[in-house]
Amino acid sequence: MNLKTKYLGMELKSPLVISASPLSEKIENLKKLEDNGAAAVVLHSLFQEQVEAEQKELHHFTSATEFISAEAMSYFPEPDEFRLGPEEYLNHIRKAKEAVNIPVIASLNGTSLGGWIDYADVIQQAGADALELNLYDIPTGLATSGGEVESEYIEVVKEVRSIINIPLAVKISPYYSNMANMALRFKEAGADALVMFNRFYQPDINLDELEVEPKVALSHSGSSRLAMRWIAILKGRINIDFAATSGIHTGKDVIKALLVGANVTMMASALLKNGIGYLKVIEKEMVDWLVEKEYKSVEQMIGSMSQMKTPNPGAFERAQYMKALTSYKF
Ligand SMILES: Cc1cc2nc3c(=O)[nH]c(=O)nc-3n(C[C@H](O)[C@H](O)[C@H](O)COP(=O)(O)O)c2cc1C
Repeated sequence: MNLKTKYLGMELKSPLVISASPLSEKIENLKKLEDNGAAAVVLHSLFQEQVEAEQKELHHFTSATEFISAEAMSYFPEPDEFRLGPEEYLNHIRKAKEAVNIPVIASLNGTSLGGWIDYADVIQQAGADALELNLYDIPTGLATSGGEVESEYIEVVKEVRSIINIPLAVKISPYYSNMANMALRFKEAGADALVMFNRFYQPDINLDELEVEPKVALSHSGSSRLAMRWIAILKGRINIDFAATSGIHTGKDVIKALLVGANVTMMASALLKNGIGYLKVIEKEMVDWLVEKEYKSVEQMIGSMSQMKTPNPGAFERAQYMKALTSYKF
């Protein structure tokens, strides 16, 4: 079975890619991922806040700022709570490149224009095969319109694109007023791929301590449907690669994402829950299905059930919503 696919101009041995997560923090785990069939790996992120903390000595700067209270400062992680500082991150890229033969995609995570963006070039020089820019953001300003927020994301992508030559993927949120238009604008700004979508982690309340605390809840299989819908709608309408992330847990989840048009699928939760060896289980399930359905290659399947190809294009739009609601029997 030919499992090859193309992503970010690279030929990958399969569509099984590892999402940015602690899975990539240790070099020994990168080797294990490669041995178990990973076709490429996205490293955990280097954050805008991390870079800025180093560049401007954020700690000192903010404690001297009148309008930010000491309490408010506790929202920021302490510099030593970050996984790796910028310099260590670059070393990690170098070591990762020496340790494995699969493509290593670095991840830069930030949202606004600023000096941190220069790190994209430093990451490129460290040898990353591509860069994933994660625009994870929760805008809360009452005076800022959605349009203004979105325009800044586009400027950030343009800026990053202008300083690197390696391929650029942009990991995005599903929460834009018109996802399709934003996807096109990201493409025009220089993105080679869209990674869909970020999972937004909601804080929880600790009732014993009466404190708000961060909580990462791992995904489950059903959470891949949002990305499936949008990849289906955009495939063939915008000439850009798609990576499906969030809720890829089984070989069948991989197949569905490919059918709607993903070039690759990315996973974190499934392997964090079940261990790195589980990647082989996913690959086997995918291959068994392809054999059973008499496919000869993964590429033959990619996008064959996108909105443009399906006889029922309304299945991905509002018509399906009405049908789903009205068909529910109690
Ligand atoms: C513990 C943990 C750490 C993560 N760290 C990062 C990160 O550093 N950068 C990033 O872009 N995404 C990060 N993610 C998000 C994942 O890359 C992925 O997009 C998300 O978990 C959805 O995929 P999944 O359903 O396979 O887990 C992290 C996820 C988890 C669970």
